[in-house]
Amino acid sequence: MCGIVGYIGRDRAGSVMLDGLKRLEYRGYDSAGMAIMNGQGLETTRRTGRVAELEKALGNSPGGRLGISHTRWATHGDVTEENAHPHVSSDEKIAVVHNGVIENYLSMKKFLIEKGYTFQSETDTEALANLIAYHYAKEPEVAGKSRFLESVRKSLRHVEGAYGIAVICTDYPDELIGARKGSPLIVGIGKGENLIASDVNAITQCTQNVIYLNDGEVVHLQKEEFAITSASSKDVEAIIHQVDWDTSEAELGDFQHFMEKEIFEQPTALENGMRGRFSDDGSTAFFGGLNLSPRDLCNVDRILFIACGTAWHACLVAEYLIERYARIPVEVEYASEFRYRNAPLDKNTLVFAISQSGETIDTLAALREAKRKGYRTLSINNSVGSTIARECDGGIYQHAGPEIGVASTKAFTSQVMLAAMVALYLGRIRNLSFDQGTQIVEALKELPKQVREILGQSDHIASIAKKYAQAEDFLFLGRQLMFPIALEGALKLKEVSYIHAEGYPAAEMKHGPIALISPECPSVFLATSGGIFPKSLANMQEVKARKGPIICVASEDCDLPAEIIDDLIKVPESHDIVRPILMSIPVQLLSYYIALERGCDVDKPRNLAKSVTVE
Ligand code: M6R
Repeated sequence: MCGIVGYIGRDRAGSVMLDGLKRLEYRGYDSAGMAIMNGQGLETTRRTGRVAELEKALGNSPGGRLGISHTRWATHGDVTEENAHPHVSSDEKIAVVHNGVIENYLSMKKFLIEKGYTFQSETDTEALANLIAYHYAKEPEVAGKSRFLESVRKSLRHVEGAYGIAVICTDYPDELIGARKGSPLIVGIGKGENLIASDVNAITQCTQNVIYLNDGEVVHLQKEEFAITSASSKDVEAIIHQVDWDTSEAELGDFQHFMEKEIFEQPTALENGMRGRFSDDGSTAFFGGLNLSPRDLCNVDRILFIACGTAWHACLVAEYLIERYARIPVEVEYASEFRYRNAPLDKNTLVFAISQSGETIDTLAALREAKRKGYRTLSINNSVGSTIARECDGGIYQHAGPEIGVASTKAFTSQVMLAAMVALYLGRIRNLSFDQGTQIVEALKELPKQVREILGQSDHIASIAKKYAQAEDFLFLGRQLMFPIALEGALKLKEVSYIHAEGYPAAEMKHGPIALISPECPSVFLATSGGIFPKSLANMQEVKARKGPIICVASEDCDLPAEIIDDLIKVPESHDIVRPILMSIPVQLLSYYIALERGCDVDKPRNLAKSVTVE
């Protein structure tokens, strides 16, 4: 949430930051702004709306050697130019961009007003800019020390809440300061230039050398040097990581939208996630980074999955699969609920977080709470070096490639596939036979090809989307393993098309949502063959009897009476364990095409941001 890019070095600060902001726009797109030290002082430009508006206001190739910039997802205060970042102290010395929430900003503001500082915005960030200015004004000159750095450090000691910040000071045109607590911040080390950003994505055009800051750390950057100190002002020995991203992975290429690109990238994302993770005998999966031995895992009595949003739906699939194939009791909690609930957990509980970004604050906070209580923690996540990845005892990287579209698609199916592989792995060290294991491995290996087959039906799905695009309500219904996919289908449609949609276990429909059924409310049924199929069919009949249109996504071997289905999307027959993945593809495409029909901005849906780093 909120994107930050700060730059120090050559005479290209403005253009580098602008490029970075465009790459970070998925973190928030209410307004954008930039402050550049241009040789004559601080030049601040802010605009409501997209980064394109800021670009227009900046004109041709904004230069400068030092600057900070921001793309905003509003927390405190309306979407106005005054509330857009950077915020400048009332003495015009300090400029700050901030991601997070300063919880004690009101008392800070009161104190500062008493001291004569003035405020132009409703934001919490402006209080921090003025607080730094206040400490800076009082800070004595000491040879060999930066007054600027000292005043930032002092100010941060008074901040309650979460922050990722970049700060500049008009008296220090050769220094850029960044700090984090709770909100992500990385440092890019270039040649004759250094950067700060909230996401690696923003800086890979300049450097592949990255330092992931830890909570409480402050980085002091000059164009050729950097120094990191901990919360207690001790020097930190930084580890520089090499980012293995190809910048083109985060570009649109021939696609119209990132959501479309990422839906179509799923076969590759799945291949990358499973590569090198099957045993030589083809009967199980294994993961390099779990840091838990089979013996440790045999002692696990219960698994608790925590996540938010789409990743929470992936956890629900994991629950079904792990209970079914590994016979370990699983519970799934919204991370934000777990954190504040004093849940009694057995000491042999394993806590598993799923997060695409690895930065979602609710998931991170829940994970920390679990760690504090002494539980072993693992994660599935897609962002190498992310905070969750670093703080877990072990984990599994998705290798799905950068996901830019705000609506998660390839990250979801990749999480579900890894959950299936975890179920296989845990099952094989407990109760699954060699034959059962090889059947699952074969089904997983078939998956990318089957997903390609479904993607080949995109024109058919687009024509169905056209037919229903003007509906204002949708139901998504499925049983067992299809229930989480119904929830995910409803979430996807809501996010990108703003149509009200609800996901339910198909049988639950009779207990309330059936009241919504009408010719104007389509139901998307997710039906797979097997024992439960006749029950799903009965639920479809109930909808049809009330004249509700039915779009059915069904496995090829389902015997469906043509008269009750209005529109049918078939997916290849498969092993049960991979069905949630296959059934997800049509619902993603349906949502995407419906949103296009309605003229929605699918990659930047209103009010949303890709990575939710505030509680
Ligand atoms: O990065 P995370 O997987 O932790 O994000 C969790 C949710 O914020 C995310 O899945 C959100 O629900 C997406 N917008 C769904 O498309």
